[in-house]
Amino acid sequence: MGDTSLRISVIGLGKLGSPMIAVFASKGYHVIGLDVNKEFVDALERGEAPVSEPQLQELIIQYKANIEVTICYEKAISETDMTMIIVPTPSDPNTGFFSNDYVLSAIKAIGEVIKSCNKYHQVVVTSTVMPGSMDGIIRDTLESSSGRKVGCQDNEIGLAYNPEFIALGQVIRDMLNPDFILIGESDKHIGDALEALYLKTAAKRPLPFHRMNFVNVEITEISINTYVTTKITYANMLSELCENLPGADADIVSAAVGSDSRVGNKYLKGALAYGGPCFPRDNRAFAALAKSVFANALLAEATDQLNNYQIERLLRICGQIAEFSFGDVPQIKLKVGILGLSYKPDTPVVECSVACALANKLICNFDVFAYDSLAMPSASQMCDKRVQMRRILVAGGAGFIGSHLACRLLEDGHDVICDD
Ligand SMILES: NC(=O)c1ccc[n+]([C@@H]2O[C@H](COP(=O)([O-])OP(=O)(O)OC[C@H]3O[C@@H](n4cnc5c(N)ncnc54)[C@H](O)[C@@H]3O)[C@@H](O)[C@H]2O)c1
Repeated sequence: MGDTSLRISVIGLGKLGSPMIAVFASKGYHVIGLDVNKEFVDALERGEAPVSEPQLQELIIQYKANIEVTICYEKAISETDMTMIIVPTPSDPNTGFFSNDYVLSAIKAIGEVIKSCNKYHQVVVTSTVMPGSMDGIIRDTLESSSGRKVGCQDNEIGLAYNPEFIALGQVIRDMLNPDFILIGESDKHIGDALEALYLKTAAKRPLPFHRMNFVNVEITEISINTYVTTKITYANMLSELCENLPGADADIVSAAVGSDSRVGNKYLKGALAYGGPCFPRDNRAFAALAKSVFANALLAEATDQLNNYQIERLLRICGQIAEFSFGDVPQIKLKVGILGLSYKPDTPVVECSVACALANKLICNFDVFAYDSLAMPSASQMCDKRVQMRRILVAGGAGFIGSHLACRLLEDGHDVICDD
């Protein structure tokens, strides 16, 4: 189906689901979004983005006519042909595995509506799930709740696993410009339908499709993030090595290393540890999965350990700077400013934020001031109460640019501290 007559429902209107309905709507599809959180549904009903993401509000306003929202599964499923499920799959901190509870609750509700409707329906899981889930508990729950078999006949149901590779802060850009599309399919019919949908929504040509069985997609999904975390950690390891060698410059070395086409420059720059809702947990899930099937997960485990070590490393550097600069005046409690509290720019998300973790450790020995234009409210829940928010620290505030910047920030109503 290459035209826009495919009627799509999206279950879960959070950080990915809301951008997804906006993207489909912007390409001419009529979309029904459903969430159990009525506040999100009400916000969208008013034409307001329920989450913060660049371009989202603009798209919702512009394509509101193509978007319907509801809390009713009956409406969302009976009035559409294909349903995307994009609900949370939180990690179990003890096992490292993702929980399928929210996905199964959505699948059960969808299955019950399908049971009462006499039509073929396609169910696409976009949430990240553990390998083995799609062909196991998810297929079983869909079949038992709907009373139908997964397959491609008229009285059956199509089932696909189609994870998105997006980064918060650029979700819409990434959805419109995917590097490739990964589809795990119960049958050719649903794979073809997804392929046609992406050919309509994605700008990239040629657009590589990787269509395969469920377990291969499940493994690919967590393997990509595990590879990226390994690369980031390699860059940080290289960065510390250079830091400790007189004359060495990590940026120069890593830029040269990345020029080798076998390596590549993406994610190869010494910086903070990785954080956020995906990288740490996908890496741990990979290690947990490998262990569960008696495969050696040493590399993924070492990456996790070395990533946690980066916070200690930064703390040590702060301590060394303090000692070097003010070691002879021990009565002074030094101030440290942290610019940016979310785990990455352009998002208010502070889940596994390295900046928050760092602030909470620094506060034992320093006065800590932190600023983030988007993440301050969520960060204040994560950070020690002594971490002072809502101020901007201008390092070099007495200089020409620093002083003008400070004045401008004051004019804009910010609380500014200058340090020079
Ligand atoms: N955030 C990311 O960067 C990212 C990237 C790739 C993949 N993912 C995966 O996408 C999935 C969703 O992530 P997110 O960040 O959008 O989550 P989110 O928490 O921002 O949004 C999930 C939404 O689902 C709703 N929900 C929960 N149970 C429901 C149910 N039974 N029926 C209807 N709605 C329900 C919640 O109310 C919430 O609004 C997760 O599996 C995550 O691993 C996330």
